[in-house]
Amino acid sequence: MQENKRGQWGSTFGFLMASIGSAIGLGNLWGFPYKMGSSGGFAFLVVYLILVVLAGVALMMGEFALGRKTGTGVGAYAALSKKYRVIGWMAAFCPFLILSFYAVLAGMTLRYCVGFLVQIFGADGFAGQGSSFFGFLLYDSKSMVLFLALAMIVTMVVVMGGIQGGIEKFSKAVMPALGVILIGIIIFVAMQPGAIEGYKFMFKPDFSVFADPKSFFNVLKTASGQMFFSLSLAMGINITFGSYLSKDKSIQKNAVIVPFSDTLFALLAGMMIMPACAAFGVDYGQGPGLLFASMQKVFLDGMGGTVGNVVGFLFYFLVFIAAITSSIALLEVCTSSVVDRQLRKGKEPNRKKISLVFAIAIFIVGLPAALDALGSGGAALKAPFELLGLEIGGSGYAMWNDCWLDFYDMITEGVLMPLGALLMSLLLGWGLPNLVKDECEEDGKPFRGAAYFKFAFRFLIPVIMVIVLATQIQSFFNL
Ligand code: PFF
Repeated sequence: MQENKRGQWGSTFGFLMASIGSAIGLGNLWGFPYKMGSSGGFAFLVVYLILVVLAGVALMMGEFALGRKTGTGVGAYAALSKKYRVIGWMAAFCPFLILSFYAVLAGMTLRYCVGFLVQIFGADGFAGQGSSFFGFLLYDSKSMVLFLALAMIVTMVVVMGGIQGGIEKFSKAVMPALGVILIGIIIFVAMQPGAIEGYKFMFKPDFSVFADPKSFFNVLKTASGQMFFSLSLAMGINITFGSYLSKDKSIQKNAVIVPFSDTLFALLAGMMIMPACAAFGVDYGQGPGLLFASMQKVFLDGMGGTVGNVVGFLFYFLVFIAAITSSIALLEVCTSSVVDRQLRKGKEPNRKKISLVFAIAIFIVGLPAALDALGSGGAALKAPFELLGLEIGGSGYAMWNDCWLDFYDMITEGVLMPLGALLMSLLLGWGLPNLVKDECEEDGKPFRGAAYFKFAFRFLIPVIMVIVLATQIQSFFNL
């Protein structure tokens, strides 16, 4: 298919691989297992699944429809009416800020990947630190900045290639490979003695965490933030990707396939990580360190030898590529916002130059997140709370006192995304109630589940978002 000036997907498969690639990333391979590990196990899983089915599918469908209807990315809101413009700004700011810390994490996975690769050939890949490398890397400012830059460069090169020539081509090549590597590691882990405890943790019904209502709301808030992040919702991604979708393609079908694949991948990631930790006696409940500290222990100390190095390499390669397909989507939202603006003004946009400028700006904003040792103290750069002279762990800033990464995350995943979803939902439910149905029917097939989606946009999603925002405010102020 011929690309127009904005670009268009060459095939449904290409669109799906790019959308699923955007959805599957650190959120699945890292966020999901660690949040499940530290907030309620099975109970978290159930709340998460309910949220995806009830709200995730509807939100994704709404975003695809918005993008295709208006033929533009985050400018979609302004295209509908000037008064909705602010939702678009929020949606454009999120990917910018998210990518600035996401690329730091992507860079770290690349560093681990290189480390294991070098070890396969007999050299020491972890600066003599072995499985204590995580604590070392965080204070190694040069490496942190170098690998942040590398992650940004890889992302930028793909985005510069455009929709079909860059994003679609890359996603089509790497996404199937990711599935194969993941399944391979899962089978390998399943054969290790003791792995069964990991599955039990994930799938044995246990709702003890709900005994206290406060912890129920906390699980709800964590699961909802995770859903937004994992499905790449409320930040313009699906609006942008939907805008490159031709009218004969089914929005409804794709809005089910993408969340389904993403959730399946998150579960498979859990089924790779939890049993691996269980088999090698590594604690999976310790939170964010799971991907780096715990998993490295599994490969270096647990499996050990060449097997550990090869599986470790494959594991971090998988995570890095998954992170890159997501980073690409994040940078594409920023880039397309300017490309579309210039096209509207009748100018000839220079995609390469625009991607470069954004990549540099995002790199600079990401530097604090790369230099504060994730708030471990005594790093090259102080964490936000330290700069403001606040006390660690004091009340009033519980959510963002840890580090710059948490601070950026709190602004986006914590506040702007639920707020954006609330506003979008109200818009699609009350302001423009026929938009989604009409757009979905463009492919000639009848719109299914109209009554449910109307209810979801009008009431269900807004109520969930208000609860999530209220819980966020409550935990922010330590009430
Ligand atoms: N969904 C990605 C993940 O789960 O890691 C993260 C992400 C990608 C968020 C793209 C937002 C986005 F636009």
